Amino acid sequence: MTLSQAREKLEKYGQEHVLKYYDELNEREKDELLAQIEATDMSILESCKHRDELAKKGVITPLAAMQLPEIEANRESFTETGLEAIKAGKVGAVLLAGGMGTRLGSDNPKGMYNVGLTRELYIFECLVNNMLDVVHQADAWFHLFIMTSDKNHEATVSFLKEHDYFGYKAEYIHFFMQEMAAATDYDGKIYLEEKGKLSTSPNGNGGWFISMKNAGLLELVQKEEIEWLNVFAVDNVLQRIADPCFVGATIQKNCAVGAKVVRKNAPDEKVGVMCLEDGRPSIVEYYELTDELMNAKDENGDPAYYFGVILNYLFRVADLLEILENNLPLHIVEKKIPFLNENGEQVKPETPNGFKFENLVLDMIHQMKSCLPFEVVREKEFAPIKNKTGVDSVESARELLKKNGVTL
Ligand code: UTP
Repeated sequence: MTLSQAREKLEKYGQEHVLKYYDELNEREKDELLAQIEATDMSILESCKHRDELAKKGVITPLAAMQLPEIEANRESFTETGLEAIKAGKVGAVLLAGGMGTRLGSDNPKGMYNVGLTRELYIFECLVNNMLDVVHQADAWFHLFIMTSDKNHEATVSFLKEHDYFGYKAEYIHFFMQEMAAATDYDGKIYLEEKGKLSTSPNGNGGWFISMKNAGLLELVQKEEIEWLNVFAVDNVLQRIADPCFVGATIQKNCAVGAKVVRKNAPDEKVGVMCLEDGRPSIVEYYELTDELMNAKDENGDPAYYFGVILNYLFRVADLLEILENNLPLHIVEKKIPFLNENGEQVKPETPNGFKFENLVLDMIHQMKSCLPFEVVREKEFAPIKNKTGVDSVESARELLKKNGVTL
């Protein structure tokens, strides 16, 4: 892109200020900035001015979850079906590790966080240990795809390599990078991170399947005849991955996607809950849950919207391929964004100072024809690390790890 083409694009979207330092840049920096301007989707930035309109929901009705008694009664049969699929190589796992983990506030990728107390025990290591349980149970390896972003790719890859993938077989690990999106101030103006660089942040976890495709990994998925992909977050150190019972239940119920859910610990707990929206599976975020929905009862008199998602989904690949071209809704999130101030100095803000633009994996659920919410025991499978202390923190996760017999 030439300078005049860049100017034209920037004027169209009211972003000319990003060229403020252009004349001070060397030739390489100039080229890089122009390339970044060319690659950035600026058409989405305007939408931060009408954020409220983005989150319009359809008609919400309950979606029954498969609960623990039913799972227990069928555990053997589900597990057998799941193990068969895993042994046949039909199941792969996708670790979403492209996030910035700003709430945890560590400069390293979240997976590199050491939760150990008397020994080193990294978040990545906890996840691999959980996967190795299944590898041993099935006596078969399954492919693990790891999504990183421009901000943490090098660090993630070298850390895992240095630690010999914590015992996971290297041939079964594949990295890919997600796309980035510009980050703006509250008026939708793109921040500069450096004089020749727009502020960017990973574009949310919803683009994982497209990013896998862009990285050429769908060829591998197809060649290996992987039929199911278990997508999971980096920060839940207790979660079971490629859990044979969950895999088997989703297969037996012939659902396009399975979602692990936990019973909420309070009606107003801050988790998204499973529901139907206009007759299709969906998730209502906690801030969208009206009092009416919070207090609604199902036909058995139980709370109708009581099963929260924990970001552990098993997608059928055939159905993912069908929605590949579909757009996902945009989420505009307030975050702390490093930026250059008026004097051209780099600032790392202590409090949120603008917007990031994201697509979310939970919105993919609404594009699926059918979904099995599958209840798991919270104390055994849900220990997310979002913060350093307090709710969903390193502290709370350590307690739960100990309760589950993990030496810290
Ligand atoms: P979170 O919603 O916790 O976001 O991500 P985050 O960026 O990691 O953390 P905060 O909000 O800044 O503190 C849930 C999961 O989705 C992944 C994260 O790595 C985590 O596993 N994720 C999030 C991505 O892979 N890409 C993204 O762009 C965002």
